[in-house]
Amino acid sequence: MTFDTKLLTSSDDDIREAAEIIKNGGIVGMPTETVYGLAANAEDPDAVEKIFAAKGRPQDNPLIVHLADFSHTKDFVKDIPDIASIMAERFCPGPLTMIFPKKDRIPDITSAGLDTVGIRIPAHKAARKLIEYSGKAIAAPSANLSGSPSPTTAEHVMKDMDGKIPAVIDGGSCPVGVESTVISFENGKIRILRPGFISAEELSEFGEIIIDKHITSAADDNEKVRSPGMKYKHYSPKANVTVIDGDREKYIGFVNSHTGSNIYAMPFDSDEQLCTIPAVPYGDTSEEQAARLFAVLRKFDEIGAEQVYARCPSMDGVGLAVYNRLLRAAGFEVIKL
Ligand code: TXA
Ligand code: MG
Repeated sequence: MTFDTKLLTSSDDDIREAAEIIKNGGIVGMPTETVYGLAANAEDPDAVEKIFAAKGRPQDNPLIVHLADFSHTKDFVKDIPDIASIMAERFCPGPLTMIFPKKDRIPDITSAGLDTVGIRIPAHKAARKLIEYSGKAIAAPSANLSGSPSPTTAEHVMKDMDGKIPAVIDGGSCPVGVESTVISFENGKIRILRPGFISAEELSEFGEIIIDKHITSAADDNEKVRSPGMKYKHYSPKANVTVIDGDREKYIGFVNSHTGSNIYAMPFDSDEQLCTIPAVPYGDTSEEQAARLFAVLRKFDEIGAEQVYARCPSMDGVGLAVYNRLLRAAGFEVIKL
């Protein structure tokens, strides 16, 4: 089925129009504080199937369920550990997804056959209104074609989804820029399955943290992973991306001696003026880098880059999320100087 995809504003009237699409079993591009999502009624298997089809997403990769308030979580999950309720007081609404054992009302297609479900309470006003006006729990993966960088503007969603979905709500640029932190609970410990804006340092106030090894290393082909998304090479622009791990002087020395057609540097902002090859910088602080990373990766596609040398980010705070996404864009190719 093809659509004349409508670009809606974040006005109440437009969000009500989007909510009608959701109520009628359709899917809509939805802004959140992290990245744009593709939203559908999480309890309607036919609607959720449309998300998998539009993205070309593998059927074994589960969707996150978005609710308006953490107090609704108990309606969809069997057990909420005390530590999760305490953490929710601090981090919900916000960019945190918590994994719980699911109730049967979450269909198998939404959880990709797992007996757990990820719950997130988004902070973005438009996403909150869409949940409220539709009266539905909303399943939403990032609104990119499977394998492409996540979208952080409505234009990015249009680029990937034009003709495939009825509408996108334009809520401007996503302030966080990387997807939510995904955690699960293991005997009072907190396992980070995907790093995000809420950092390991912040989470450690609530319990012992386990950083899953697949955050910084590739899973082997047949290895069992705790979160299906870890298996896939994500966020890949068409160019070959290589992460260059070294200080400014070494990085600049490396890129300036790797000239050639369609070879680009992806430095920090403060490195840019030292680059003698073409460069698209992605920020200085970890927060700036998170906010710009996906737009910069998409930009390399637009300009026809074939090889990109990205300066390795700091791994502190939200930097770990930036590093994790960049590693996946690079297919885990790192040169240590
Ligand atoms: O910020 C976000 O989380 C965005 C916005 C739209 O909310 N959503 C998002 O969804 O990033 P998605 O589908 O692109 O990524 C969800 C990740 C996947 O890697 C998936 O494997 C993992 O979360 N995940 C979802 N449910 C899970 C579960 N029950 N157990 C383990 N991992 C799960
Ligand atoms: Mg995604």
